[in-house]
Amino acid sequence: MRRSTATTRPRPPGPGGPPLIGNTLQWARDPFGFITDCARDHGDIVYTEVAGTSWYRLYHPDHFEHVLIHNNQNYVKGEFLQQFLGALTGQGLLTSEGEFWRRQRHLIQPAFHPDRVPVYASMMTGYADRLIASWEDGETRDIHADMTRLTLEIIASALFEVDLRDHEADIGAALEEVMEYSESVTSMYLPSWLPTPAKRRYERAISSLDEVVFEILDERRSSSDDSRDVVSMLLDAETEDGHRMTETQLRDEVMTLLLAGHETTASAISFTWYLLSKHPTAEANLVAELDAVLGGRTPTLDDLSDLRYTEQVVKESLRLYPPVHSVVREAIEDDEIGGYHIPAGASVAMHQWVTHTDPRFFDDPDAFRPERWTREFEREVHPLAYFPFSAGPRRCIGDRFAMLEAQLVLATIAQRYRLELASESSLDLALSITTRPKGGIEMNVHER
Ligand code: HEM
Repeated sequence: MRRSTATTRPRPPGPGGPPLIGNTLQWARDPFGFITDCARDHGDIVYTEVAGTSWYRLYHPDHFEHVLIHNNQNYVKGEFLQQFLGALTGQGLLTSEGEFWRRQRHLIQPAFHPDRVPVYASMMTGYADRLIASWEDGETRDIHADMTRLTLEIIASALFEVDLRDHEADIGAALEEVMEYSESVTSMYLPSWLPTPAKRRYERAISSLDEVVFEILDERRSSSDDSRDVVSMLLDAETEDGHRMTETQLRDEVMTLLLAGHETTASAISFTWYLLSKHPTAEANLVAELDAVLGGRTPTLDDLSDLRYTEQVVKESLRLYPPVHSVVREAIEDDEIGGYHIPAGASVAMHQWVTHTDPRFFDDPDAFRPERWTREFEREVHPLAYFPFSAGPRRCIGDRFAMLEAQLVLATIAQRYRLELASESSLDLALSITTRPKGGIEMNVHER
């Protein structure tokens, strides 16, 4: 239950704005610019109003640590995320709360146990090999579309043991629709029951994703093999009072894992190709490492410890282009952060997008410098200054899976192909549920 008490602590500073509109127009014009300017102009805690909601924006790692770790019991995912993601992922792991979330996390965790990793690693390189077998030397491809298909195939096969190749186009189109809807400020303003054309397209997209999810459930149910995939585990799981999960609960978990498990990783790898094409020295260093360690063969799990530069490239790419740009919470009770009052019910946003390039924590913060990620630097940097996978109990369950996938896919493809931007135009970014390259990334692929 929320309790707001009288306080003498001040509200954080902010850009101000006219009643009702607040900062909505600034946000709508350029959300990345807006969240960056807020920190530059007003400091580490900033009060803003967007689409009728008061937002407390945090920029300092100490404050992230407070919300995500030390006082995490006072912060829930909250109404905003429910409104934003509820129709899509329901009460899946990303949005559920309390005891139900704890039980589900415990149930799903074994899918990410280290003993599953060797199987996943060979799937990842196998699918990457198959993708590049379809490439033609010199052709132009939308690399983000390729990476999205690839990560979808990998997650479906790793977690659900199903082949989704026949559904890739439908899933891709539905996801575009969902992201576009979530990107629009009008969708935040309008009541969720209002049947606008955009809302209808959004609902149709969710129905077509539902069809895929129910097909996965049916396929696993009818399979007689003694499988260890996530769906089989969820189908077999019983609550303490002997109940099985309902169809809706199963749908929500599978939808969550399917979407959270591929979209962000696809963006992470796509941004990495973009950055490498812009930084030929880093690319040359990467290829030199791959040649020395692999000599043309497909990488395995055992190679990863020798592929240090590959790991540094992925970490640096996740710093400059974090696929999850912000982590959002809602305060249950009043709190104080950095001397400011955070009222019960307040929406709080923590922006990786801004803090990852804060000069207080990263030298030459806008430069792509993979070599900064020495073991020493990792020990010294504030642990919450870099948090692409969030932190605390709600940290990403697939963080190691994603790192493994990004490194292995990069190593498999980069030693066979050089990817060059098809045009010099800069990356157009969309701030939706995640950070995505708007309209894809056109690249020419050259065999080495
Ligand atoms: C580069 C890739 C990825 C990034 C940047 C990323 C980032 C994140 C972040 C920041 C959160 C926390 C959200 C919050 O606290 O509100 C999160 C949660 C989550 N992620 Fe990921 N993720 C990635 C890949 C994956 C993969 C591969 C999977 C599944 C295989 C996955 C499944 C999930 C799930 C289920 C949650 C919710 C966990 C919970 O609340 O218990 N993610 N992710």
